[in-house]
Amino acid sequence: TLAVLDFGSQYTQVIARRIRECQVYSRIYPYSVTAAQLKKDGVCGIILSGGPSSVLAKNAPLPDKKLFKLGVPVLGICYGVQLMGKLLGGEVARSERREYGRGAMTVKKKGALLKGLPKKLQVWNSHGDKLTKIPAGFEVIAYTENSENSVIADEKRGFYGIQFHPEVHHSERGVEILQNFLFGVCKCKADWKMANYIEEATQLIRDQVGNKRVILGLSGGVDSSVAAALIHRAIGDQLTCVFVDNGLLRLKERERVEQVFRDHFHVDLRVIKAGNRFLSALKGVTDPERKRKIIGKVFIDVFEDAVKSIGEVDFLAQGTLYPDVIESVAIDGNPAALIKSHHNVGGLPKRMRMKLLEPLRELFKDEVRRLGEELGLPKEMIWRHPFPGPGLGVRVMGEIKRKYLTILKQADAVLLDEMKRTGHYEKVWQAFCVFLPVKTVGVMGDERTYDYVVALRIVESQDAMTADWAHIPHNVLGVISNRIINEVEGVNRVVLDISSKPPSTIEWE
Ligand code: XMP
Repeated sequence: TLAVLDFGSQYTQVIARRIRECQVYSRIYPYSVTAAQLKKDGVCGIILSGGPSSVLAKNAPLPDKKLFKLGVPVLGICYGVQLMGKLLGGEVARSERREYGRGAMTVKKKGALLKGLPKKLQVWNSHGDKLTKIPAGFEVIAYTENSENSVIADEKRGFYGIQFHPEVHHSERGVEILQNFLFGVCKCKADWKMANYIEEATQLIRDQVGNKRVILGLSGGVDSSVAAALIHRAIGDQLTCVFVDNGLLRLKERERVEQVFRDHFHVDLRVIKAGNRFLSALKGVTDPERKRKIIGKVFIDVFEDAVKSIGEVDFLAQGTLYPDVIESVAIDGNPAALIKSHHNVGGLPKRMRMKLLEPLRELFKDEVRRLGEELGLPKEMIWRHPFPGPGLGVRVMGEIKRKYLTILKQADAVLLDEMKRTGHYEKVWQAFCVFLPVKTVGVMGDERTYDYVVALRIVESQDAMTADWAHIPHNVLGVISNRIINEVEGVNRVVLDISSKPPSTIEWE
């Protein structure tokens, strides 16, 4: 096991993830873990993460100093190297010039850590303090313009310190530095796989849950689906999944979820058909924010009713991923600074007084997808586009009416069908239809028509923060338009949204 001690850096999980990519088993420990515990767990190396604190602060988080006596290699990154400086007899000071962003590093001596790397490298820094005097036994093996002690090494004891962040993509060949530490210094074996993760995770779930019952709100999206499959693998029928059909889902969505989870995985799945409840609460409402709030509130009400009907439940499971966690609050005494609250975390469990079970909270999206594949979820479910919580409710502009939803569902099904058939579905971030309650004149056969408009929204994006409209070939768009107008009653015009985000958003409401 490679131990990563967490001092609250945003990048701790990125370090763990890079180690998993190297097929080495790593575990994240709270920074206060005892050296005795690490020894008991048989760790082969220790990484001290970065963190938002300053080692000069009075209440700076400090590790158990005895970990330097375990006889295993230690790598300090950013805050971690300053800790080594402080605890092993060096000196740390506030630097006049804080070093943020890209910087050029020059290698003086390669040693085991920088083996195979070129003399000059671009690295990614983010620190205010710096090591002004290195501890005895160490030597400087690389420097940048702003820090003469950028990388330090004590080859004899296997202690290394890196002032920048080798784990982030912006640090050129940073992964090789980590690999050098893992394989060259710690002599780790590359034998860890996602299948091992399933074993570890299911064991942890069993330990945490015992013989208690767990409930999970299944949305059919990737995260909740993978969480459901994983937890079911661990505890079988102690898990109950609740799927709320809010009437705002895509065509045949409920049936697909039932087929996968009930028929294939034999999960105890309760489907709540609450379309009427949602639609009556939304009657006459046109404001997008109010629509979202109502849908959110009714969801909680329906979900709570469902939980009550199930009886004694101790845990609420959620498919929270690491990016959701880090954007959320300072949780469990984790010193990570608050960035913003996220809509997936919190709220529900507090009100329902249940313990949280979040087996995916250390993973990134692409890892969750791999995990889902390993668990046997259908590819279609794993690679689907994001779908907003309020569903088609924010894709019917203005007041939501049954008739509009019927039209939108059919048009959307045609769009997705053609996108998949032509191989464009996988290439874009999202593709969906928007219903416009606007009537325009058309002519079909010899007859005048007066029907509704459907807009196509197809975007490319990396993370939904920014997006651009996708340049889908005209012939593909032509087929989509023809099919929608011919097959969906009530539509006589299809338009294409060619706005980027910003200034537009991906969804229309
Ligand atoms: P916007 O429209 O803000 O959307 O550009 C960014 C991404 O978020 C999705 N989205 C949501 N996802 N609950 C969600 O889980 C929501 O309320 C919600 N609203 C938007 C949207 O589909 C896009 O991928």
